[in-house]
Amino acid sequence: MFNIIIKDTYEEVSLEAFKALKKVISDKEKPVLGLATGSSPIGLYKNMQEDYKKGYSYKNCITFNLDEYIGLDKEHDQTYWTFMHKNLFDNLDIPEENIHIPSAVGKDLQELCSDYDKALNEYVIDIQVLGIGGNGHIGFNEPGTSFDTKTNIVELQERTRLDNARFFNSLDEVPTKAITMGISSIMQAKNILVIATGLNKADAVYGMIKGEISVDCPASVLQNHPSVTVVLDKDAASKL
Ligand code: F6R
Repeated sequence: MFNIIIKDTYEEVSLEAFKALKKVISDKEKPVLGLATGSSPIGLYKNMQEDYKKGYSYKNCITFNLDEYIGLDKEHDQTYWTFMHKNLFDNLDIPEENIHIPSAVGKDLQELCSDYDKALNEYVIDIQVLGIGGNGHIGFNEPGTSFDTKTNIVELQERTRLDNARFFNSLDEVPTKAITMGISSIMQAKNILVIATGLNKADAVYGMIKGEISVDCPASVLQNHPSVTVVLDKDAASKL
């Protein structure tokens, strides 16, 4: 079921997203957060950092990130490990051992996927933050992905690589593969918080909320989830 909130500016969207997250976590002793990277949640993360500065402690939080590129060293400036530390973790008090980001280096890739699932299986995510791809992807689960997937290795579609090229020097540098939490794990979160802004998200937002439930738009699976808050600006909501 969707609770849809539409605001004028990215700042207002981010504040509403923060309020929704805080409502879920504030009465939990050990809140489990599912986190995303990308442009959409940066404002939410700024609000969390402000909240910490004002005295709220995040030290009991346990976090799971959705995804990570394959083919970049962990400390490359475009890994999601770097993104999360720069945009959130370096300025909060969450202990490093509570932070889970799928690792894309080291062992055999299938082993990395099952390690991540094992860690995920020990918890239930209280709130999963999601952005949405222009093609309707959630995590890096691209159109065509079965709704039953667990953590898996994906080939990034051209549209996703083009969308993300803005963070790299050239399209050639954008990795072609990623490791991502699967759709079935995302669906197990107790609450989901989707943040989307901008006209380039309008079709995907329509597909998520009003389209047919189909693997062609992975976000449409959220129509089957009991608790989804969607925070949009007017552009992202323009096709609803
Ligand atoms: C990021 C992720 C992706 C993004 C999506 C939107 O961890 O899993 O699904 O949420 O690509 O990205 P932005 O927010 O940059 O438009």
